[in-house]
Amino acid sequence: MNTLDSPQVAQLLQQLSADAHTTDAPIIAKVRERVAQLGKLDDADPQIAEALGGAFIPVSLPAGRLLYTLACANGARTLVEFGTSFGLSTIHLAAAAKDNSGRVITTELHPGKQARARAHLEAAGLVDYVEFRLGDARETLRDLQGEVDFLFLDGWKALYLSVFEVVAPRLRRGAVVVADDLDIAPDLLRPYLERVRAPGSGYASVEITIGDAMELSVRC
Ligand SMILES: C[S@@+](CC[C@H](N)C(=O)[O-])C[C@H]1O[C@@H](n2cnc3c(N)ncnc32)[C@H](O)[C@@H]1O
Repeated sequence: MNTLDSPQVAQLLQQLSADAHTTDAPIIAKVRERVAQLGKLDDADPQIAEALGGAFIPVSLPAGRLLYTLACANGARTLVEFGTSFGLSTIHLAAAAKDNSGRVITTELHPGKQARARAHLEAAGLVDYVEFRLGDARETLRDLQGEVDFLFLDGWKALYLSVFEVVAPRLRRGAVVVADDLDIAPDLLRPYLERVRAPGSGYASVEITIGDAMELSVRC
């Protein structure tokens, strides 16, 4: 049986997904009010950032399963994640890391969120497959060593391109890059999408309508 479908991991993901729904609903309502006031989503806005500090805002379970499946398909052994939050996507990536004899490097701005994520990875029995980094991904991912097989972009949307450029020199041929939330902030994601979709970018890239829509790119 693969690790994602083991009872320990599958039951925990079901429970965390339900917790996320309950916790996030009032927070998202508050954020929507603020977005209406601002006329746009600005995740650097202090009120929005403070509200989201208590939110899971996770990948959906089908989107997480896609991450796991893609990481298994390319035999990913070094997986990098931008935006740990409470660790739901990290659990999916760590399940693939375990099955591929690899590891996940995940990075998060908020210490409290990182602590919750670490506890969730412990509950999943996967904490040994994860290296947690704290701080701005544009800095914490600068000293990556060796090749990266899989990159998941799920932090603040305006930063996707700059985080991608930090990791890109390490992405091997056949490396998979998944960028989440195309539907949530299309304007903020445009610079990143233009980069990976450009002819001659070195990437094959396609939108996948799962969850809040994701861009799947493979280094050619
Ligand atoms: C959408 S949530 C991540 C959800 C998580 N991937 C999951 O599926 O469970 C985005 C997270 O990125 C973090 N973040 C935002 N900007 C960041 C940065 N510059 N460096 C590291 N983490 C960042 C936020 O604090 C937030 O917890």
